Amino acid sequence: MTVSSFVPPVRTLMGPGPSDVHPRILSALARPTIGHLDPLFVAMMDEMKVLLQYAFKTQNQLTIPVSAPGSAGMETCFANLVEPGDKVIVCQNGVFGGRMKENVERTGGVAVMVEDAWGAAVDPDKLRDALKANPDAKIVAFVHAETSTGASSDAKLLCEIAREHECLSIVDAVTSLGGTPLEVDAWGIDAIYSGTQKCLSCTPGLSPVSFSDKAIEKVKGRKQKVQSWFLDLNLVMGYWGGEGKRTYHHTAPVNALYGLHEALVMLQEEGLENSWARHAANHKALRAGIEAMGLSFVVKEKDRLPQLNSVTIPEGVDEAKVRSTLLNKFNLEIGAGLGALAGKVWRIGLMGASATPHNVDLCIGALREALG
Ligand SMILES: Cc1ncc(COP(=O)(O)O)c(C=O)c1O
Repeated sequence: MTVSSFVPPVRTLMGPGPSDVHPRILSALARPTIGHLDPLFVAMMDEMKVLLQYAFKTQNQLTIPVSAPGSAGMETCFANLVEPGDKVIVCQNGVFGGRMKENVERTGGVAVMVEDAWGAAVDPDKLRDALKANPDAKIVAFVHAETSTGASSDAKLLCEIAREHECLSIVDAVTSLGGTPLEVDAWGIDAIYSGTQKCLSCTPGLSPVSFSDKAIEKVKGRKQKVQSWFLDLNLVMGYWGGEGKRTYHHTAPVNALYGLHEALVMLQEEGLENSWARHAANHKALRAGIEAMGLSFVVKEKDRLPQLNSVTIPEGVDEAKVRSTLLNKFNLEIGAGLGALAGKVWRIGLMGASATPHNVDLCIGALREALG
């Protein structure tokens, strides 16, 4: 069989990620590959750290992209910070909190679950109660922006509660970074991971992470080696580390990093706060259109993420047929429900370059036509 080159169609991506990738980023990806220890590449890596510090609002030295998707950023946090026997309070209000539990258990820790309904924010009082009942807990972990439901949790308050109980915090910001307010230093977040394919509008496959000095202290003071060689920050720091000579750890995904660099340059040009405001404004416009069609949102207004809109599927509607009409007729992708919300909701993303008035109009018009 002779296989030809793969040429994908141009779609509008309004699902839960990836989002539309700006042509500037696509052309950055196509620039000539150079060696990953080339002095010019190393200088680009240094710029990347500064750009990521800007996006995360942090001065943390260890602020880098892990060379793998958001799930690897998640594993980096848990594999490095959880030691066998450590008790971790995991707040779960959707799919991704469940993955945190898996991570805790696979690293030999003990997960204590704090459960909230899918579509609700994490309840700070439940976290307080869990910490009172488990004074030996070492870490609190939660998802800032739950992509499976569209709910936002109060990361500032949850980290404050963790600190009051002398716990480190691990925060999933895969969907929040660049899209909604997030301040790593001001909120006292100890370890955070994100993804490139959501509000940064880059291609999937990299995971920006950031670690506070307190978190690094814990990693350096581990009694046992980190079980994962690839994700061991003690080794990764030798390649991405601040001072001195860079040593080979793995071959960095050179071109993918050009893409992320460009995405972050674009974020800096727009201004982080302006990007947050753009996501909020487009969400408002989408909400007006959704409500005018008589559809409703899963998440209460005060906890709703602008960049991920879970819309309840009306009774009697074949949800998969609507999505395939959007895809085939309008080249428009929206997301299906995940986990407990499978078959019950559509997830409409307004992330990064996808968060535009044009896309809002396209989506509302297409949905109106598909629903007849
Ligand atoms: C909240 C959240 N955490 C983690 C992940 C995993 O990221 P990735 O699919 O890039 O591995 C996702 C992906 O959608 C996510 O939305």
